[in-house]
Amino acid sequence: MPIPERFLDELTERNDIVEVVSQYVRLTKRSGSNLFGLCPFHSEKTPSFSVSPDKQIYHCFGCGKGGGVINFIMEIENLGFQDAVAFLARRANMAMPEEADTEDVSRRKRLLELNRDAARFFYEKLVSDEGKPGQDYVNRRGISASMVRRFGLGFAPDSWSALSDAMRKKGYSEQEMFDAGLLKHSRRGGGYDTFRNRLMFPVIDVRGSVIGFSGRILGDGEPKYLNSPETAVFSKSHNLFALNLAKKSKSGYIILTEGNIDVVSLHQAGFDSAVASLGTSLTPEQARLLSRYTGEVILCYDSDEAGRKAAQRGIGILEKLDLKVRVLQLPGAKDPDEFIKKNGADAFSNLLSGSEGQIEYRLRTVEDAHPADTDEGKVDYLKAAVALLASLPNAVEREVYAARVAEKAGVSRQAVIAEIDRVRRRKLRDAKNRESREQTRPAVNAQPAQRGIRYDDPRAARAEEGLIRLLYLDPGLARGRTLPDASQFSSPLLGRFYTELLRRIRSGERISPGVLAGQFTPEEMSHFTTVLQGPEDLANGERAMDDYINIIAGGTEDGDDLREMAEKLRKTKSYTEDKK
Ligand code: UTP
Ligand code: MN
Repeated sequence: MPIPERFLDELTERNDIVEVVSQYVRLTKRSGSNLFGLCPFHSEKTPSFSVSPDKQIYHCFGCGKGGGVINFIMEIENLGFQDAVAFLARRANMAMPEEADTEDVSRRKRLLELNRDAARFFYEKLVSDEGKPGQDYVNRRGISASMVRRFGLGFAPDSWSALSDAMRKKGYSEQEMFDAGLLKHSRRGGGYDTFRNRLMFPVIDVRGSVIGFSGRILGDGEPKYLNSPETAVFSKSHNLFALNLAKKSKSGYIILTEGNIDVVSLHQAGFDSAVASLGTSLTPEQARLLSRYTGEVILCYDSDEAGRKAAQRGIGILEKLDLKVRVLQLPGAKDPDEFIKKNGADAFSNLLSGSEGQIEYRLRTVEDAHPADTDEGKVDYLKAAVALLASLPNAVEREVYAARVAEKAGVSRQAVIAEIDRVRRRKLRDAKNRESREQTRPAVNAQPAQRGIRYDDPRAARAEEGLIRLLYLDPGLARGRTLPDASQFSSPLLGRFYTELLRRIRSGERISPGVLAGQFTPEEMSHFTTVLQGPEDLANGERAMDDYINIIAGGTEDGDDLREMAEKLRKTKSYTEDKK
């Protein structure tokens, strides 16, 4: 372990999870000792993201993500373990332990250097004689030479090894090129260049590092774009194309488009705050990144059905971050690039100043979908519009738009408001019920929610989970008992958690989720927090402990049925939650 455990313990001690999470999520106090808020890792309207000050963990009942404070920072800031530790150390004014570049850090540096050299190689090809096909394409798309320079566009020659030969000469190994996604394994062994005969768009992060590439085919063909795979330095869902440029814009907003070409076109027309989301629909991580640089996002997606859907989803995600959102329609054009080519920069500027607020946009979508020209149509329209308004968190906005809906449907404003209130009350009730169901669901025979984690023997695994949960919550229970061996566990992952807990308990160390974060992947940590959420009756901990041990040790045939046990636990209805 490159970072001493004692350091990690102190780090987690000095970075209280509630304080850290509160800088990203509005938390409110609710049942028991847990705090709740809207999950920053998936889109939701009712809070299912919980933070436990006692256990110093977070856990989302919706998407299953969870962990300790280090995991939280890794996930939300998109950092590796080392970087997340450094981030929290800075926050707590702690000096990092003396260390040379860790292996992790120097490997990332190498990959970034390789990417930069590759970008240079592609650029030089594009502006040289060999780059003729690329230049022809650039000209055909009307991209100016100064945009080629600004974006560092390039050309990947039509060759299986032009790039790798050049990079080998510069001292990079094949392994490094594989790791960067620039080389692919061929069936006969060895490798071949990933990008061939394509117009290359380097993806540059906000620090100015080339982290990956997007390569467009010259003309028609499949796939139209080829992107770098996920690598140690590149994650599509956490980055935006051209944010390195847009973040410097003075415009006060960021224009979010779908396509790389749209971005180049917009910048060329003087709209220097355009970015694109790298072929994914907007992710919460990308939205958060945007919110660091702007207070207002203008969605400018393609005019097709897919673009409209993407805009709706995008609104939901951006809204949660208190970003102002506007939506731009492109009359008579399929995307911003086409619109500008057809109508010019001034026309786009006019669109920008007339673009709708997001509530108007969504209301109009409802109006379009439910023409209110018959009584029946009016009722349908009212239902849909009320559902939309009921989801607005702001009471003033609900009132204002209720007036507009009332007028459209030809009913009184009071009637609309009363209906909105009714729907809101019902939603609140449903959310409450859902929550209490979630907290009392018998944890029997279900498979874990985390992808890639499966139990071969769910029944045994539940006992193993129970044992881990009890040990974590009350390490004293280990005293005076013959505990099973991890090799008796049916689930290898639970066995590893267990081994680590036991080791710490036996050496008298504190069990902090911070230290665990260094030894388990984020998925595994999420699973760990799921395990900790299970119902547990600490008052009868001794008894439960023995039952679990019995099952794990093989005394299952005539022993208590787990289902029965869960039932019993539930009847005592004293979950750790309520007792605190
Ligand atoms: P578009 O097909 O709209 O491409 O895909 P575009 O950039 O507007 O290009 P033109 O104007 O048609 O030439 C939008 C984005 O989706 C991603 C790319 O990031 C692209 O910019 N995409 C598209 C892919 O990742 N793979 C694909 O095969 C296609
Ligand atoms: Mn497009």
